[in-house]
Amino acid sequence: MNILQCTGYVKDRYPIYVSTDADFSDLPALLPVSQKRIVIIDEKLKQLFPHVLGLLTQNETHIFPIGATEDNKSLKGLETLFDAIFDLKPSRDDIIIAIGGGLVTNIGGLAGSLIMRGIRFYYIPTTLTSQIDASLGSKQAVNFRDAKNWLGTYNDPEFCYVNPYFLDTIPKRAFNSQVIEGIKLCLATDQALFTATFKQLENLYSAPLEQRIDFIEKMIAAKLAVLAKDLLEENYGMSMLYGHTIGHAIEMLDHEHISHGEGVGIGMLAAARISHALGLADQHLIDIHMEVLDRLGLPTKIPPHITPAHILEKLSYNKKNYGGKIHFVLLKGIGQMADHAGDYFTIVPPAVISAVLEESY
Ligand SMILES: NC(=O)c1ccc[n+]([C@@H]2O[C@H](COP(=O)([O-])OP(=O)(O)OC[C@H]3O[C@@H](n4cnc5c(N)ncnc54)[C@H](O)[C@@H]3O)[C@@H](O)[C@H]2O)c1
Repeated sequence: MNILQCTGYVKDRYPIYVSTDADFSDLPALLPVSQKRIVIIDEKLKQLFPHVLGLLTQNETHIFPIGATEDNKSLKGLETLFDAIFDLKPSRDDIIIAIGGGLVTNIGGLAGSLIMRGIRFYYIPTTLTSQIDASLGSKQAVNFRDAKNWLGTYNDPEFCYVNPYFLDTIPKRAFNSQVIEGIKLCLATDQALFTATFKQLENLYSAPLEQRIDFIEKMIAAKLAVLAKDLLEENYGMSMLYGHTIGHAIEMLDHEHISHGEGVGIGMLAAARISHALGLADQHLIDIHMEVLDRLGLPTKIPPHITPAHILEKLSYNKKNYGGKIHFVLLKGIGQMADHAGDYFTIVPPAVISAVLEESY
């Protein structure tokens, strides 16, 4: 049976459809008739799902395949795209459809936000990370020089279409690293959901469709709950950044070999160690992080070629560095962020960061 249901709204702003249609045949009816369709698609997806591309093609459809690399998620990458789109003489009624993981949806979202001060754009996320995290919310950004997501804006797509059949072509290691974005939020905000999810971690990759959908819907609900409290991710929404301070730095230092989720996994473990070092949390928090990474078969150590000095240097360019002070989201326990009168960022002295980094090899 094919089910297309609207599982919720991002703070009453745009719907998230969850479909179990193996043919994706419910997709075309969701899209408006428009003069031009500008389809920005991960080039890998173009090969893997030509059928979906066919479904999206109407009279004037222009397809722009993009390699999913952090280098392409840049001002330069956007400029190349804008050059090609500009030549099409687009109008404000045209639409952008972004199909791919978080990289491509971020590029498509920012392109849609900037062209003529904003045209309608639609998300079709194809990785677990993008289905449960990157495509939910309003953050659109690209990297600038060495800084991740440094140039961007807040703006909404018209909808987000989630279909778990896209995930069938994702290898196990990549899939498990993407589970991290869901676990991250449970660890930071929801102990009961963490406990329920923790039990499923080992076999989620090979789980039957119903179990996968259940996981996806629960993770979407968890993120929507956070966005409902803090859409612009200025206070409680900082939970989304758990593990990202060190995670982003590691990912940027070797994005050829370390995926976003793997970086965030190591970053979460480092954050748990910092929480412990600052006396906020006990050893159990570190142990549970280790167990999560072990169950998912993800790395627990920083690769030796990335030195603490490299990481500290990267942190100095990070968005989480204010006035030379490096901020972390830290936990007091599972589901409990450390907060300072409603501020969920904790300033961590460089000596503590260095000591924890030394422990992380
Ligand atoms: N805006 C946000 O709130 C937010 C949140 C999380 C992540 N992000 C961003 O998202 C990006 C990471 O996104 P991601 O983890 O979704 O991965 P990705 O877009 O980098 O894709 C990872 C790999 O999976 C491949 N791929 C995509 N869909 C596939 C499929 N269905 N089958 C097989 N292979 C597939 C891609 O070609 C690529 O090789 C980062 O740039 C990160 O900064 C943004």
